Amino acid sequence: MQLTELPDPTPGTDELLVEGIAVGVCGTDKEIVRADYGWAPPGRDRLVLGHESLGRVRSAPGGSGFSAGDLVVGVVRRPDPVPCGACARGEFDSCRNGRYTERGIKELDGYGAELWCVETDYAVKLDPRLADAGVLMEPTSVVAKAWEQVRRVGERAWYEPKRALVTGAGPIGLLGAMIGVQQGLDVHVLDRVTDGPKPRLVEQLGATYHHEDADEVAGKLEPDVVIEATGAGGLVFSAIRNTASFGVVCLTGVSPSGRKIPVDAGSVNREIVLENDVVVGSVNANLRHYRQAADALAAADPDWLRGLITRRVPLESYQDAFEARSDDVKVVIGLDGSR
Ligand code: BGC
Repeated sequence: MQLTELPDPTPGTDELLVEGIAVGVCGTDKEIVRADYGWAPPGRDRLVLGHESLGRVRSAPGGSGFSAGDLVVGVVRRPDPVPCGACARGEFDSCRNGRYTERGIKELDGYGAELWCVETDYAVKLDPRLADAGVLMEPTSVVAKAWEQVRRVGERAWYEPKRALVTGAGPIGLLGAMIGVQQGLDVHVLDRVTDGPKPRLVEQLGATYHHEDADEVAGKLEPDVVIEATGAGGLVFSAIRNTASFGVVCLTGVSPSGRKIPVDAGSVNREIVLENDVVVGSVNANLRHYRQAADALAAADPDWLRGLITRRVPLESYQDAFEARSDDVKVVIGLDGSR
């Protein structure tokens, strides 16, 4: 990982030129830095990092609906070139052939730069009040999609969920809990820590925080919905085993392979079948989910959102953002010199 001077980008005719405000750091960025994930653009051996963006438009093509000063976020994924049936319909988050590209992750430079360009079709305008917290847009789009998946799966029969359990109180878990609360659900969040910002953020949302054993918590709650945001095998199976009848478990956490845990596969299968349960995986987000996320953020308490960003690191100290501290929730790198 390196901080490098690059030539200023020149926007194409359908592109915005954007001054970066901040870029969020997540587990995927850390995997890329460890060379466990990520792809440089073809023919190059380096990639500009950053997929959780926030910036201010410097220039926009006339008639594009954007103008200088707008607060914007760039969409992460682009459709595959074939395109597959899903990408052809704007559902590039469900690309079937794996040839999609992703800014800052897969073959396209990211948004971790003082100046970046983005196609107007892949830029999303944010409420001007979100200048401090709009960098949470991309992770919010991921959970907006997860909740949409849950609803669509649920609606295959009568569906009025009451109780949701979110496993993991990182940014994805907390933003997932926020959307659950906005939907009027009784939301419970499970994490390991007993103090620090996470329990407080959960309580401020009006949700209930738990830190006890997963089977015990989930077994008592019997949630209608689980948003799993850790990728930890034990939690995943605990969630699957403990839902109410017709339960939907949405998996959003990416886990390393190679960790083994004993599972009573027969009883897991039996319960899923006899209760019409569903386990659904969810990754990335399309433009519809970004719009849902923009609405969710606009409806949220701006102070609560700011509280999720527990560390703002100036660009010169970018390496600090990649070192985990015990009370981190979301760490962001400031790109505009203001923080
Ligand atoms: C990003 C997604 C992306 C996924 C896989 C996640 O960290 O939020 O947008 O699709 O990584 O590359």
